Amino acid sequence: MPFTAADVPDQSGRCIIVTGANTGIGFEAAKTLAAKGARVLLACRSKDKAEVAKRQIREAHPGADVAFLPLDQADLASVRRAAEQAAEEPRIDVLLNNAGVMFPPLTRTEQGFELQFGVNHLGTFALTGLLLPKLARTPGSRVVVTASLAHRRGDIQWDDLDAEKGYNRAQRYSDSKLANMLHFAELDRRLRAAGSPVTALGCHPGVAATELMRHAGPFRVFTPLFGLLLNTADQGAWPALQAATAPEVEPGGYYGPQGMREMKGRSGPATRTATAQDPDLARRLWDVSVELTGVDPGI
Ligand SMILES: NC(=O)c1ccc[n+]([C@@H]2O[C@H](COP(=O)([O-])OP(=O)(O)OC[C@H]3O[C@@H](n4cnc5c(N)ncnc54)[C@H](OP(=O)(O)O)[C@@H]3O)[C@@H](O)[C@H]2O)c1
Repeated sequence: MPFTAADVPDQSGRCIIVTGANTGIGFEAAKTLAAKGARVLLACRSKDKAEVAKRQIREAHPGADVAFLPLDQADLASVRRAAEQAAEEPRIDVLLNNAGVMFPPLTRTEQGFELQFGVNHLGTFALTGLLLPKLARTPGSRVVVTASLAHRRGDIQWDDLDAEKGYNRAQRYSDSKLANMLHFAELDRRLRAAGSPVTALGCHPGVAATELMRHAGPFRVFTPLFGLLLNTADQGAWPALQAATAPEVEPGGYYGPQGMREMKGRSGPATRTATAQDPDLARRLWDVSVELTGVDPGI
């Protein structure tokens, strides 16, 4: 059954982390989850932006239980602090990995990684790995990783992960989104092999009008058009909400819009490339990610 925000079941008693929750898809997902009764941790790098988001959610839904969790995925020390703080919660039911950056000029994370690979994949990998023990203590818990249609053009540059030899911003974005796909597929395989109670899933929003185009130069003028022709930000959150809350999900499942080449519409099962399902690539990326982040999820 196609899924929208209206299908999100009651979330009372559940605690959900949404990364990048101050704007765009993350904000819309957080707002819906809070409206449905979840305690939502807004994992954001800017306290000011998180406070504005908190206020907006509370204005729309008085009584919403929302809290700020400081998280900068461009700094692994910040990721560790966020995981430690989150682990103090009585329970974590869902880690909704949504934070992402697209097409920035060549920039490096605190630890020197190319920004899109560092934030979109390595930060997500590290946060997930650090929170797995906590998640495993909550029955029915889930990890969701947000990928993109752009994964189809991804081709991880193993001999130049740090973009020392060259930097094509669009290609690096696609590569980071392919990494997201490989990450949740490998996580799913490992969790099931270990008999873990945690379920790993993926999602993509199609094309949605958000701030993601902030680095896209003149192409930014098309952003409002996305909202008219394709998904608004709240519609773009439906696949994430389905992966995070739908009662029936396939472990390792991948969700996205069902309309017009998966670019818009209600959420349901999405398609992925053979590369995104390649177990050898996924294992290789896992090992490299453990080495680069120093976080070994231990599964
Ligand atoms: N919109 C689309 O059409 C589309 C399509 C495919 C996939 N996606 C994916 O959907 C996800 C959400 O994107 P969006 O469209 O909602 O974009 P957005 O409006 O730009 O929101 C991105 C969020 O990620 C946060 N973020 C960026 N760098 C971060 C860092 N270093 N640490 C922590 N948070 C960070 C941003 O925080 P700040 O505001 O502080 O920068 C913001 O909250 C991303 O993973 C994106 O790749 C979007």
